[in-house]
Amino acid sequence: MAGRIPESFINDLLGRVDIVDVIGPRVQLKKSGRNHKGLCPFHDEKTPSFNVNEDRQTYHCFGCEAHGTAIGFLMEYDSQTFPEAIETLASMVGMEVPREAGRGPKVDTGLYDVLGAAAREFQRWLRSGDAAAAVAYLRERGLSGEIARDFGIGLAPEGWDRLKTALASYGEQRLIDAGLLVRQEGGQRTYDRFRERIVFPIRNTRGRVIGFGGRVFGDGQPKYINSPETEVFRKGRELYGLYEARRAQRGLQSVVVVEGYMDVVALAQHGVTNAVATLGTAIGQSHFETLYRHVNLVVCCFDGDDAGRSAAWKAVDAAFPVLSETRQLKFVFLPEGEDPDTIVRDQGQEHFRNLLDEAVPVGEYFLDHLQEGLDLDQADGRALLAELAVPHIRRLPQGALQEILVNDLATRARMDPSAIARAARATIEPDDRRRHVEVPRATGEGGIGNKPLLKYVVQYPQLIDGMDPTVRADLADAADVSLLADVVRHLVEEPGMNTGTLIGCFVGRTGYDDLAAMAEEETLLPMEAIAGDMETRARRYVLERHGAALTRRAVESGLVEDAKRRSDAKVQQAL
Ligand code: GTP
Ligand code: MN
Repeated sequence: MAGRIPESFINDLLGRVDIVDVIGPRVQLKKSGRNHKGLCPFHDEKTPSFNVNEDRQTYHCFGCEAHGTAIGFLMEYDSQTFPEAIETLASMVGMEVPREAGRGPKVDTGLYDVLGAAAREFQRWLRSGDAAAAVAYLRERGLSGEIARDFGIGLAPEGWDRLKTALASYGEQRLIDAGLLVRQEGGQRTYDRFRERIVFPIRNTRGRVIGFGGRVFGDGQPKYINSPETEVFRKGRELYGLYEARRAQRGLQSVVVVEGYMDVVALAQHGVTNAVATLGTAIGQSHFETLYRHVNLVVCCFDGDDAGRSAAWKAVDAAFPVLSETRQLKFVFLPEGEDPDTIVRDQGQEHFRNLLDEAVPVGEYFLDHLQEGLDLDQADGRALLAELAVPHIRRLPQGALQEILVNDLATRARMDPSAIARAARATIEPDDRRRHVEVPRATGEGGIGNKPLLKYVVQYPQLIDGMDPTVRADLADAADVSLLADVVRHLVEEPGMNTGTLIGCFVGRTGYDDLAAMAEEETLLPMEAIAGDMETRARRYVLERHGAALTRRAVESGLVEDAKRRSDAKVQQAL
């Protein structure tokens, strides 16, 4: 899949595909005139508020506001990437996707076939005569045959080349590439990676097997081994159980993140079918990005010990840049020595659900954690809390969640919320990441500017031409060094650029990666819907910029400064 897909092809393709043919097989639709109605696949509902508009070739849900084009639907519903969605649509109408020469790694889709075949072999072995010990182990851990089947659990039998022999027709190299065979160190011989283990297939959200985890069922070390990273298996992004959770619950709203394979499976066994686990790695930002493409609420479940607490704090750090008022994060801390598997087995589903109900929202956990050991009866302690919190709050996207945290912090620190808000809005300069409250400068130095607005501009550069000239001029203000301003200036200088040419202007410069990512992000609203929203956002943005400039002087001599001076010494000690 190397190279960029030419824009002309995408337009041509969208002209030939009918969105009703795309959504129809996936959602039951009822025709009424040129409109088609059905139960929304993106949230739980009893009366249909999901509409597919044949004339406009768009879908819209009046319940949850989900909307977009055929491409956007496939990206949301089937979790396809932008290029995958294009491929799907093209194959529906018998078109070949052309690629412009250039970047992009080639994915060996044959790996999916090998991995799928391996999963079937493992499952077959678990049902065969010599699986008694493995089956006994699974029984002892309380798992039914039904759950083993739902999760595709299998057995890698004893021996060095059982899989190698069974899948010989795929060729040795492909088995190595898939992570199924290991080459002897310094030698020629290859042998099976998974031997005498229970294997858990790891599936991507489209249900394709991308790797395995294997657990010993007797004594033996290590307890688990996992597939290595391969072209199709990226541990930093993938979550065990997400496919199964989505399959078990239509319109999945939330997931519980636990630590292990066994926790996921045991919870499902006891009716908690929305658990997922990272693959032996800490949860990172990409995991959260994956999760929030599917659900609005993530509950992280950690042990109550020091390791669990430190993992939770790392999760806060990883999640902050992607959170919003509709992307919630909560934490549950389990009693020491327990994991979700033991809790649900010993105390039942009800008890585990109660723990989930009492989960602590991220904002509360965040402030509680920073507040530990600080004396908020002292001005110093309160100032220090603000010092410590602001750099994190700044990493949250602007929006209601950030405002809530600003207000909570202001209450706890007994400071003026607007002073904290201004400090949190200031951008961080790369060479000057001082760990204390930044006083906002006249306008944002560097930084993106305003992400949603910039995304629109990148996806629909033509719309800049139709924008109110004064607003446009303010956006392109020569003194503004944000990426947004830079992009708008390019468009003003050279009208008529499309997304590809625009991004092309930034090759090799800072901002290029951000722009390229934005170009491929979800929600491809129809242009009519975007134009109005874009102008409103632009006006608001310009206004805020001017506002920041006007209040700057006030802030410099205000509360933030004052608090900063008093606590500088403390901060130096603490960091
Ligand atoms: P059980 O002991 O069967 O209950 O498994 P668990 O899922 O509770 O495992 P544990 O809490 O010990 O570990 C959590 C996760 O860390 C596992 O699911 C694995 O992904 C990973 N892990 C644990 N032990 C090992 C190991 O020895 N090697 C590797 N690579 N990963 C491990
Ligand atoms: Mn366990």
